[in-house]
Amino acid sequence: MPVDWSGSGVDLHLAVDLGGGGRRAALESALRGAIRDGRLSAGTLLPSTRRLAEQLGLARGTVTAAYDQLAEEGFLIARPGSGTSVAEPAPRAPAPAAPPPGPAATAAAAPRHDLRPGLPDVGAFPRRAWLAATRRVLNAARPEAFAAGDPQGRPELRAALADYLGRTRGVVAGPDRIVITSGYYQGLGLLSGVLAEAGISAVAVEDPGHNVFRAVVQRAGLAVAPLPVDAHGARVDTLAPGTGAVFLTPSHHYPTGVPLQPGRRRALCGWARSTGGLTVEDDYDGEYRYDRQPVGALQGSAPNHVVYCGTTSKTLGPALRLAWLVLPPHLVEPVVRAKQRTDLYTEALGQLTLAELIGTHAYDRHIRAARLRYRRRREQLADRLAAFPRLTTHGVPAGLHTLVTLPDDGPTEQQMMDSCARHGVGLRGLGELHHDPTGRAAGVLIGFAAPTERGYPAALDALSAALSAGLSAGPTAV
Ligand SMILES: Cc1ncc(COP(=O)(O)O)c(C=O)c1O
Repeated sequence: MPVDWSGSGVDLHLAVDLGGGGRRAALESALRGAIRDGRLSAGTLLPSTRRLAEQLGLARGTVTAAYDQLAEEGFLIARPGSGTSVAEPAPRAPAPAAPPPGPAATAAAAPRHDLRPGLPDVGAFPRRAWLAATRRVLNAARPEAFAAGDPQGRPELRAALADYLGRTRGVVAGPDRIVITSGYYQGLGLLSGVLAEAGISAVAVEDPGHNVFRAVVQRAGLAVAPLPVDAHGARVDTLAPGTGAVFLTPSHHYPTGVPLQPGRRRALCGWARSTGGLTVEDDYDGEYRYDRQPVGALQGSAPNHVVYCGTTSKTLGPALRLAWLVLPPHLVEPVVRAKQRTDLYTEALGQLTLAELIGTHAYDRHIRAARLRYRRRREQLADRLAAFPRLTTHGVPAGLHTLVTLPDDGPTEQQMMDSCARHGVGLRGLGELHHDPTGRAAGVLIGFAAPTERGYPAALDALSAALSAGLSAGPTAV
């Protein structure tokens, strides 16, 4: 629905397509587009929510929610008493540099009660939908589908992802910018190698952060500096001069679970534009936000400076080894070359099946159902944790895990982990995720997605017993 909108000081033809999809999403998308292509410039005051709602024939709450969402993403600034305006874009300048390669994680034996963070409920893998999609793909595939593959990834999957990521995560991506990799693990290795070959030496990685992925970056020859994280996400103000790239999890920091605050998102984009530095956005669980619409990807604010990384490991299961990088144009060719040198191309039939799953929206339906289940599970976990006031719970309602820190006077992390192991509960300690754990808060990461629906209540009972026994092991005698 095209609308002539005379806002305070601006005339704008805002094309809001209200047919079909959600009204709020349509409005958000129209506003994002207008800001990106400069029709709405920095500082422009937006009409009041009431006025815009009247003009568009929308509920005022819909417009308010859209404004809130875009403020969270850093496109708008809301100032109490003076309205909502378009945020200042960060200064523009040079682009980062370019060119080669890297490699897989393993499964440990599952504990009786699997509360390890980061695992989805693989018991709910959409077998029927996957099988039906595979059948359709095999029936329709031309012979070339069984020949040598494309190192960049199957065009069908790249096209499906370009649409899906734009629609659900606000990612700005044509299929030509996407490279399919065998997991984020491989994609990160490829990208890090390309950066090292291009002469980038110093990079910043969130602290705490995933130790396995930190090691991947280091193995590529990049010198990793810790990027501290507080309750508002990564401290982007601490980036040292000469930092060539920043690796982070802006939608839901791993492991603390906090999103990167809007001002910091803007500052990071500004840093990238003014220094030519590259931001690498690991959107590992961006589909799962339980209290609100997920915050759009950072990449949508600076597509030429941010590498967006997504994966099926949290939506379908890590066994698929299917992930994607959305790259600034100058990095596509070097990363594809690195991929080809490493393993030629990712297995093609799985890619075609995933493309079919996305194209028929079975992927959306699966994620929607999982989101409802995980949301309920997170609430059940929060109820259990409320019985332990000495524990501190961190992060927003999102993702597949919750970080809990232990009281200063004990027990130690090891004592708590031992207590969990005695009760058959598998979870993860926080310590190893710090670049240097000395003097850091002790804690545990509790996953709530991996157990089956039937097994979850028993897992929570075992967790409660383990936490109770663990806490009674402190205060620590040192
Ligand atoms: C922080 C983080 N990023 C990304 C991933 C996805 O990795 P992959 O796609 O290699 O399974 C994971 C999975 O454990 C993760 O914990």
